[in-house]
Amino acid sequence: MKDYIATIVKNEKIAENIYAVTFALDEDVTIRAGQFGNIAVGGTHLLRRPIAICKADKRQVTFCYQLKGEGTRLLKEKKIGETCNVLMPLGNGFYVEDTEKKVALVGGGVGVFPLISVLRAYGETKEISAYIGYRNQGAVCGVEDFQKANKFVAVTDDGSYGEKMNAVQAFAADLAKGNRPDVVLACGPTPMLRALKAVTEKENLSCYVSLEERMGCGFGACVVCVCDLTSGKKARVCKDGPVFNASEVVL
Ligand SMILES: Cc1cc2nc3c(=O)[nH]c(=O)nc-3n(C[C@H](O)[C@H](O)[C@H](O)COP(=O)(O)OP(=O)(O)OC[C@H]3O[C@@H](n4cnc5c(N)ncnc54)[C@H](O)[C@@H]3O)c2cc1C
Ligand code: FES
Repeated sequence: MKDYIATIVKNEKIAENIYAVTFALDEDVTIRAGQFGNIAVGGTHLLRRPIAICKADKRQVTFCYQLKGEGTRLLKEKKIGETCNVLMPLGNGFYVEDTEKKVALVGGGVGVFPLISVLRAYGETKEISAYIGYRNQGAVCGVEDFQKANKFVAVTDDGSYGEKMNAVQAFAADLAKGNRPDVVLACGPTPMLRALKAVTEKENLSCYVSLEERMGCGFGACVVCVCDLTSGKKARVCKDGPVFNASEVVL
């Protein structure tokens, strides 16, 4: 983990309300899929904003972000050549075992972006099926990346792109047809992850979920981001996660 002074080389709209910012770094960075950065967006915001690392290539990292409030709006206004402090890489990330050959990615909302990093890390060595849910056609992004998967099923809440259903329904429908993965990796809103956990538990499938909690420090010091484990203990999403075995975390 290092606090990089990162220079913006691109910051552009990629879908409705969604932007991608690429930073150049002055040294190489090694990232595991599913890790994130905590970006200082400036302004009156003392707290940084946690965003998943979507792509990393030696001295360049790309984050995709949805406009939500003041922090992401400030980020959107940053111009090429401006710098931000970015603390990264943070969190544990996704890890696929050698024995797990078939991987299902299930993502919705901003959960789509860490899954792109999984595809980039494991696309050459694993058989990957991606089930991705968007709000509507305007929110569709990352298609060029997901099309590199062995299978890509895109669905929308309103049916304006792909079938009208959510990512978990798309995954469950394919599962019912016999497309059974060795492991499921997921990121998205908590109700989506809860529904997925119900399916994977019923089917006795291994499932890992990346959680999105409000964060402070991003590296385990402030305890802003705690979540409940099924054991009754607590965990810090930023340091013990954000990726957890779905069976071990309360959703
Ligand atoms: C590990 C991790 C990875 C993330 N990756 C991405 C990503 O790749 N792309 C992306 O667009 N967003 C991602 N997020 C969510 C992102 O951090 C928040 O959307 C962002 O911090 C909102 O900041 P803001 O100042 O614009 O909005 P705020 O004014 O802080 O909040 C606006 C609204 O967003 C909600 N919100 C704020 N923070 C979060 C959060 N952490 N999780 C859920 N809801 C939140 C608030 O409750 C509020 O309703 C990630 C979060 C975590 C913890
Ligand atoms: S954000 Fe500070 S401990 Fe997790």
